[in-house]
Amino acid sequence: MTARLNVNIDHVATVRQARRAPEPSVAAAALICEEAGADGITVHLRGDRRHVQDEDLYTLRRVVTSYLNVEMAVTDEMIRIATDVRPDAVSLVPETAGEVTTEGGLDAASNPDGVRAGVDRLREGGLFVSLFIDPDPRQIEAAHNAGAQQVELCTAVYAESTLGARAVHSEGRARAAAELKRLREAAVLAAQYGLHVAAGHGLTYRNVTEVAAIPEITEFNIGHNVVSRAVLTGLAEAVREMRARIREAKA
Ligand code: PXP
Repeated sequence: MTARLNVNIDHVATVRQARRAPEPSVAAAALICEEAGADGITVHLRGDRRHVQDEDLYTLRRVVTSYLNVEMAVTDEMIRIATDVRPDAVSLVPETAGEVTTEGGLDAASNPDGVRAGVDRLREGGLFVSLFIDPDPRQIEAAHNAGAQQVELCTAVYAESTLGARAVHSEGRARAAAELKRLREAAVLAAQYGLHVAAGHGLTYRNVTEVAAIPEITEFNIGHNVVSRAVLTGLAEAVREMRARIREAKA
């Protein structure tokens, strides 16, 4: 059985926020993703609001009819917003000020009480809770103990080991193989705990296949590489349209 794909559209909002302009609309992007076969839409409401804004969550909740997954840090503010917006899933992620992107998984094993309290509040609000964690048995056990219904295994280390020289030389290939093994074992363990298993971060058209072959993984959250591809595949058409508009003006 194939896994579901949630498209993370944070970086559509990144382009919009670069100009504080109305376009590109994240709602329109979500509908295009759904139309193209995405099984769900994922967005990350960051504490610094660098891309997705609170209002986007409310708009997406109205227009997304497939599945809406909202990533957020375990803070009072975010839990309040999640219980108000009521997405189909809340993914708890670590967040550090100034980071370029999420750096690794949530350390649920070191902060069991804090994570459990956050999960409890979300579940009391009737929400489905996923924890974004490293593929580490301690974190899987902690996610289970915290009452999460799903884990999302962080594929960042695997993804990095598939880039450039690291992918070509034996050291990098061994790293990728070791990390894939860790992901496979983590997926099996999480499924044994009765957790749903998702995966994501840094996945690309080149490196997704081997992770997608892991039977226990039933959901992927993929963003940057899909939006990157969209910019390039759409660029020629966008130039043709603008060229035509200018040409037509003096026709
Ligand atoms: N999953 C989680 C928890 C994330 O934080 C991110 C990045 O926002 C992704 C998946 C998607 O990662 P990428 O944009 O590299 O595909």
